[in-house]
Amino acid sequence: MTVRAWFPTLVYDAPLVRKGAAALNRQLLSECMTIREIDEDGRRWSRANYPGGFTSYNSMNRLHRTSPTFAELRKRLARHVRSFADALEFDMSGRRLDMTDCWVNVMPRHAAHPLHLHPLSTISGTYYVKTPRGASNLRFEDPRLPGFMAAPPRRAGCSDANRTFVRYPVRAGHVILFESWLRHEVGPNTTAEERVSVSFNWNWF
Ligand code: NI
Repeated sequence: MTVRAWFPTLVYDAPLVRKGAAALNRQLLSECMTIREIDEDGRRWSRANYPGGFTSYNSMNRLHRTSPTFAELRKRLARHVRSFADALEFDMSGRRLDMTDCWVNVMPRHAAHPLHLHPLSTISGTYYVKTPRGASNLRFEDPRLPGFMAAPPRRAGCSDANRTFVRYPVRAGHVILFESWLRHEVGPNTTAEERVSVSFNWNWF
């Protein structure tokens, strides 16, 4: 008897750098705070679309082109994106993946981010800048969920591979990558501190 795991959903997770994450994070955190201060359009957009939090997703969303710190982040992410594309066995001969969007997310107490995916992109992900103890995890949905129809629920304690939702415990200094069509969400921040991250899209050309 053989049971095969076909059509898997790959998710990549690694520390961004082996050394020096703290210094990069200090600089990123300071710029994230400045961006929130200066990005009026972003604050207005966030009030309507990101209740209780701030995101520069719809305003300052090419930060790798305007800030040397975010350009450095892009450079550090490149090898991770390449490794992930390798694991996905994308045929990249004569093609390349490049960062198209890069934006800031600040989630104070109670801020949440409902289920979404990242359109017009191949690989998306997040780099964690500040994750207070007990910060809400990133939660992924099984992309086949709409097709499950009358499937029975999964056993309590089943393996991650068979879960309908999987939680990724966020950790400052770590990067997570996934294919952009994979839906994900962040539950409300129940801690008193702000949870700060930088999200990005890479597309193929
Ligand atoms: Ni997202």
